[in-house]
Amino acid sequence: MQSVQTTLLAVDPLQPAPADIERAAALLRAGQLVVFPTETVYGLGADALQVQAVHSIFTAKGRPYSDPLIVHIAEYQTLAMLVTHIPQDALRLAEAFWPGPLTLVLPAHERVPRIVTAGMPTVAVRMPRHPVALALIRATATQIAAPSANRFMHISPTTAQHAFTDLHGRVPLILDAGPCEIGVESTVLDLSTDIPTLLRPGGVSLEMLRTLLPTVQHFTSPRASSLEQNIADAHKSPGQMLVHYAPTVPTYLFDGSLSQIHTAMLTTIQQHLAQGQHVGVLIADEDLSALQNSGAKLYTLGSLTQPEQIAAHLFAGLRALEEANVTLILCRTFAEQGIGLAIQDRLLKASGSKIITVS
Ligand code: TXA
Ligand code: MG
Repeated sequence: MQSVQTTLLAVDPLQPAPADIERAAALLRAGQLVVFPTETVYGLGADALQVQAVHSIFTAKGRPYSDPLIVHIAEYQTLAMLVTHIPQDALRLAEAFWPGPLTLVLPAHERVPRIVTAGMPTVAVRMPRHPVALALIRATATQIAAPSANRFMHISPTTAQHAFTDLHGRVPLILDAGPCEIGVESTVLDLSTDIPTLLRPGGVSLEMLRTLLPTVQHFTSPRASSLEQNIADAHKSPGQMLVHYAPTVPTYLFDGSLSQIHTAMLTTIQQHLAQGQHVGVLIADEDLSALQNSGAKLYTLGSLTQPEQIAAHLFAGLRALEEANVTLILCRTFAEQGIGLAIQDRLLKASGSKIITVS
């Protein structure tokens, strides 16, 4: 693909200058790509109704066409243009959680290009709450198809710099509004089937969903199951297969009590340092005193008592260790309540489900 000059344009996260938004909107209307901030992660946007423009998303990311895209909207009425039917549950959830980090999967209207839905009969729709994203969608006066703005298989970007690292030379413009508030991607909920199914835990927790929709089932990605099972599940939930987030650095998760985790990590660190490896560890504040003299490169995500902080720093931490050229990443597991379910899901994917249970 032809290389383009990539401009990083700083915009005010709360009140972006109309001229900056218009510059980005003009590119989108002309069928070009723009990286823009959302409250979850940065997105790589194109006009969802321009097939050629959507094609270039897949080319820029190196993403397979089998993985469908989320369509981003700014007004509730737009939903009716994208789907054939809006169930009562969808209305209630949209009212409660939009704008925000919830993506609803619904039967697709034929107006939605097949390249967006990967030829599936459903479309994923979300209304982000980031002021820059909303302003951009409104100024473009269309719907924006956008995956996370990373190269395929890499970590989702939570800063404009992350997106620049992955996509410079491939997109003309990146809007930089600083770090993303939530830091993990939106919750994906399939409402097109009889049983509402959580396909990806994210910014809206399973507990929050169940307060409005008690029947929500959690579609759990396979942990140590067979390859055949893995492939079958990948068809049910495209893009959720384990290899999707396979990191460039081998990553191991440690599960156990605080002191058990520390002892096991210290042993692992020593073994690998002795072999000449560079070990990186993602830690919580509570792990610092036990590991600070370990010789490993540490990245602190925040306190165990504030899982929102952990989520917000998780992807930046993985990228920081990768950029520090560590040859091995260790991380603890986290409680699966609230946003913790999304944290644990992303760590399982990053580690290819390599969990070390210490007892
Ligand atoms: O927070 C987010 O959702 C970010 C920001 C940019 O909005 N976007 C994002 O997009 O994470 P992406 O493409 O990286 O992940 C979208 C997920 C994929 O796992 C995809 O397979 C799933 O949503 N998805 C999209 N359309 C679907 C559909 N019709 N049925 C089932 N899953 C779908
Ligand atoms: Mg993604």
